[in-house]
Amino acid sequence: MTRHSLLHILHTPADSTQPTASDVWSGAYKIPWNDPEFSRRMLREHLTQDHDLASRRIESIAMQTAWMQKTFLGGTRARILDLGCGPGLYARHWLSYGHRYHGIDFGPASIDYALQTITEAEATFMLGDILATPFGGPYDVATLLYGELNVFPPESCRAILQKTHTALRKGGRIILEVHTEEAVRRAGSANSWYKAAQGLFSELPHLCLMESRWYDHLAVARQTFHVIHLEAAAASEAVETYHSTMQAWSLEGYMALLYEAGFDEIKVETALPGSHADLMLLTAICA
Ligand SMILES: C[S@@+](CC[C@H](N)C(=O)[O-])C[C@H]1O[C@@H](n2cnc3c(N)ncnc32)[C@H](O)[C@@H]1O
Repeated sequence: MTRHSLLHILHTPADSTQPTASDVWSGAYKIPWNDPEFSRRMLREHLTQDHDLASRRIESIAMQTAWMQKTFLGGTRARILDLGCGPGLYARHWLSYGHRYHGIDFGPASIDYALQTITEAEATFMLGDILATPFGGPYDVATLLYGELNVFPPESCRAILQKTHTALRKGGRIILEVHTEEAVRRAGSANSWYKAAQGLFSELPHLCLMESRWYDHLAVARQTFHVIHLEAAAASEAVETYHSTMQAWSLEGYMALLYEAGFDEIKVETALPGSHADLMLLTAICA
């Protein structure tokens, strides 16, 4: 995040450069979901039943877990690893089917909420970055849901999938929900704005201007959020800028990532209930 005045934005010329991969994937390329204040505001977005932006609504999560249970796990007592688990909204459902569950997320408010609301011994939660935290294991199933893989740079995607492969038993399954190539491209082409009394970026009244870029040579979308604090005491403190960067992958690209990490029997699952046209569910087996 950078903080500056509105004049600074108005006087900054529109960027027409062609960045390199290291330009787009360095510095503050991601919204700081792990910042305590941000995480607290994000938890509200995960839990609301008014929209599906951070997590799906409870009803969809229940339907999806039931479908995954029937399709992949019927009759077994599995050890499940949930990467980027948020506040553990899938955990309760997995536990109700008799599975054991381990969730990892780097949002402190989400992990606190999960620890307070899910106290069964069969569930554990860890606050940590999935790039750095040991996954433990072995697990029978690992999930990485709601498109989170796309916000990592390609070398981190490879590292996460390789770590997941190592954490699964031979024959274990990864359930990976990713953004379609087209959805990421679209994310890089829509400018918009909104005004809010409070929201994800601030507890106070603010205006958010969202600027999007699509870098075709990198297959990367970058959204820049200029958050203008309407009650800021000093003009120089009025604007905070955040970035969100997403990598687009074709189906062949996802398959290559999974094969490279040691997975096999890759399938596109089209029957997931409550699925979104921007997302695609892939499953693969740990060879
Ligand atoms: C779109 S939310 C989905 C949450 C949950 N899987 C669900 O569907 O309800 C993505 C989650 O990934 C987490 N996350 C993002 N980057 C992470 C990282 N490097 N390590 C751990 N968690 C991460 C965020 O904090 C957030 O909770």
